Order: sequence, then structure tokens, then C-alpha cells
Amino acid sequence: MLLGAATSSHQIEGNTFNDWTLWEREGKAPPVGEACNGWEKMEEDIDLLLKIGANAYRFSLEWSRIEVEDGVFNLKNLLRYRRFVDALQRAGITPILTLHHFTNPVWFYESGGWLRKDAPEIFGRYADLVSRYFSDVKLWITVNEPNVYAYRGYVAGDWPPGERSIFKAMKVVRNMLRAHSQAYAAIKANVRRAKVGIAHHLRVFTPVGTPGRIPAYLREYLFNFLPIYSEISGKIPPPAAFMESIHPGGDFIGINYYTRDRVRFSLLQPFGVEEFPEGVWRNSLGWEVFPEGLYMLLKKYNFNRPVIITENGIATESHEERVRFIREHLKQVKRAIDEGVEVAGYLYWSLMDNYEWLEGYKAKFGIFTRDRRSKGKLNLREIWFSI
Ligand code: FCB
Repeated sequence: MLLGAATSSHQIEGNTFNDWTLWEREGKAPPVGEACNGWEKMEEDIDLLLKIGANAYRFSLEWSRIEVEDGVFNLKNLLRYRRFVDALQRAGITPILTLHHFTNPVWFYESGGWLRKDAPEIFGRYADLVSRYFSDVKLWITVNEPNVYAYRGYVAGDWPPGERSIFKAMKVVRNMLRAHSQAYAAIKANVRRAKVGIAHHLRVFTPVGTPGRIPAYLREYLFNFLPIYSEISGKIPPPAAFMESIHPGGDFIGINYYTRDRVRFSLLQPFGVEEFPEGVWRNSLGWEVFPEGLYMLLKKYNFNRPVIITENGIATESHEERVRFIREHLKQVKRAIDEGVEVAGYLYWSLMDNYEWLEGYKAKFGIFTRDRRSKGKLNLREIWFSI
């Protein structure tokens, strides 16, 4: 069982320059600044991982540091990640590399980003180059949460590029799935033993009353089902495409799980409106904590391949609450495993407090603080074996 933690480049490295930086400069998101100084100090994170009994670490490569202009690669920066991977491996920690975790190089963004027709090929080229330098890395995540990326940037419009069009969002999802497929083929060609997948954000959608089933079903279909089905079957279903074939790629399914939405029917909103009842366990951002939902999702889909929980975490000021959160979720993972679901790993989000997009540094998801001090005792392996 892979047990460990996850982070992403923009959220921890500091001084990144990408499309999100432009968003920050426009005053639409808090400034990331130095973040956790990860670019300089990533080797120190290995000690943190060892302290919590981790044997795996998921982190992302910052595309904008590697492909600085269209087709121009900065090998010095790429080799900085290479040194880190060597250090991880020496410490006995399995690296899980993510190629895209929300942020894009400015040249890509300004020329149309994920709406570009050739976005999948561009991303495939980047994946090809990177994987040539990491031919000993077994676990790869091509894109993180295509559903969240498309929803926030192209429907809600509160993330870059701030569009509000379901039509464009579907186009972006389709392009990201195609990009996954291109990257999948490139990595498999360069890395003999590679296992490649997408990290999907899955939510439980619970209808409020019988009419609530309609918006809950719509959300389930577009948010959860569409990307997962595409990855498993190699066909993108409507409305993103008309069963367009992509390489069926997905040696494992990555699941990021945080919360559930309770959805009530509304004549004005096709996707319904959310309800927030009193007396429910919530994190400091107001997201409902619902450990059983992880079990429900693991059982709901016939993944037909190993699953890795690529993110699961709680924003809280209380370390005791975090330990309870992890224990409760791992219990549900164990329950699913006992009933035959093949879960190969669990990665807590996040190793340390970091930059949480629109919330900035308010949300404390970390096991450690930003300056890498421990918040208390926590050992993932001990928790897992005690369940
Ligand atoms: C996930 C994102 C990750 C982090 C957590 C809290 O959806 O992948 O970057 O922001 O939420």
C-alpha cells in the first residue's frame, strides 16, 4: 500500500510565473509570494515524509518552469526536479509525478490555452520530453481534475481565464482528455514500466427530496461519470464529444475526495442549489466532511483497475481533528478493500499548509506548517496498521 502525501507546484514552490500569477496580479486571487519555499527547499520535504511514515509522495512539475516558450525547454529547471526525484528514491519514497496541476505557462494561456485545437499535441510534446528524463519513475498523473479546472475557469469563471460558458467548458474537458491520451502514449513509449492515470475530483451528490434527484444526477453525470468513463473506456461521451475514441489510457484511477454536495431542485438552476444543514461535520472552509462517501464512490464505479486516493484532506486548525479525519477515511478505504476494491494507495492533501487558490493561506490542510514545523504526532503507517 502506498501511503503518503500530496502537493502541487504553484501551491508550494513560491515565485512561480504562470497564468495564475496573472490572475493574482489582476487582484483576482491572493498573491502566492514565497509559498513554502519549495523550489529551494524541496529536499527538506523528504524528512517530513519520513516523519509521518510515508512511502510515497505525489507532487507536480511546474510546466511554466520547464517549457518557458512554445517548444523551448529549460533543462536546468527540469534537472532540478530530477535531483529531487533521485533524493526521494534514495530515501525509499516512491515519487508520483503530476504533469499538470491547474497552472499553465503564460505563452500557452495567452494563445488560447485549453481551448486551442492543438492543446493536446502541445501537452503531449511536453509529456514526451519530461518522460525521457524520468524513465525510472513508475507512477504518473497526466492531468489533475479536468472537471474542476473546466468548471472553475469556464463555468464559474472565478479561476483563469474567467469564462462563463458550458460550451467552452466541455471543449476544455474534451481537450484535456485528449491531452491525457497523448501524454499517456508518450510516457508509455519512454518509460517501460510506467503506470499512468488522471487524478479525478469525485464528489458525492445527495439529492434533497425526490425532485433533487434531477440536478444530483446531472452533476453526477457531468462531474464524476464523464471523465472517469472516458478514461476507462477510451471513448468521450456527450456532451463533451460523441463517443470520440481516445487511447484507452488509465492504468490506475486517481481519486481526489473531499466532500459531498446536498442538492435541491430549482426551476432557475439546472444544476440545482446546495443546502447546508446545521449540525454537520465541516472543515474550516465549510465543506462537509463525509468519510463514508469515499467508500460509496469506491463501490459505485466499476473501475476495473487499481485505484489510488491521490488526494484526501481537511482544512482545520486542529491537529486532533486532522488525525480523526485521516483515521475515519482510512477506515472507509479498508472497508472497500475488504469488499474487493483494489485500492493501491492513499495520499493525504497536504504535506504542509500551502497556497489554497482563491482562499490563499487561510486554509490549513497541512500536516506540517509552511515553515515545516510539525503540528503534532501523526504516522500514516501506524494509523493504517491499527485499523
Ligand atoms: C483539490 C486540488 C488541490 C487543493 C485541494 C484542497 O481540488 O487538486 O490543488 O486545492 O483541492
